[in-house]
Amino acid sequence: MVKLREDILRHPLGLTFLPEELEQEKNNLLMAAFEDDQMLGCCMLVEEKPQTVRLRQMAVSNDLQGKGVGKALMNFAENLARDRGYKKITMHARDNAIGFYEKLGYKKSGAEFKEVTIPHYVMEKSL
Ligand SMILES: CC(C)(COP(=O)(O)OP(=O)(O)OC[C@H]1O[C@@H](n2cnc3c(N)ncnc32)[C@H](O)[C@@H]1OP(=O)(O)O)[C@@H](O)C(=O)NCCC(=O)NCCS
Repeated sequence: MVKLREDILRHPLGLTFLPEELEQEKNNLLMAAFEDDQMLGCCMLVEEKPQTVRLRQMAVSNDLQGKGVGKALMNFAENLARDRGYKKITMHARDNAIGFYEKLGYKKSGAEFKEVTIPHYVMEKSL
């Protein structure tokens, strides 16, 4: 999963993960889509505050984007969040992915900001 995330989310920006960043993820809910042994996509959920969970690190393998893997992962993540009692999902969405999340019912909240060198927006959805 770290390799997929580096390939899709970090290396294109000339960045990599620091061991201390990965260390902080140990208690997050990590999930991935597979075909046989191949990981097709991944994401994670981390509690932001009681009843609100934050989606992070959503990535689908380059050659498989646009085939429904991301949507399936989002449905899985939302169901998991509901099962755990969360009422809201929030995220820092990359500008290039806003349309993807809007199709799934997420709304922008607040102004654009920079993270990992690129524009992002907070997006959220009630579960
Ligand atoms: C953004 C990403 C997670 C979407 O996953 P995906 O598997 O490619 O998306 P899906 O095939 O499930 O698409 C679901 C719907 O969203 C649309 N969509 C997908 N990516 C989109 C985008 N970047 N902008 C607008 N619409 C998009 C699809 O056309 C599809 O529409 P439809 O239901 O009308 O057919 C994936 O493309 C990705 O990993 N991109 C690079 C990394 C990234 O930006 N991650 C997000 C970080 S916040």
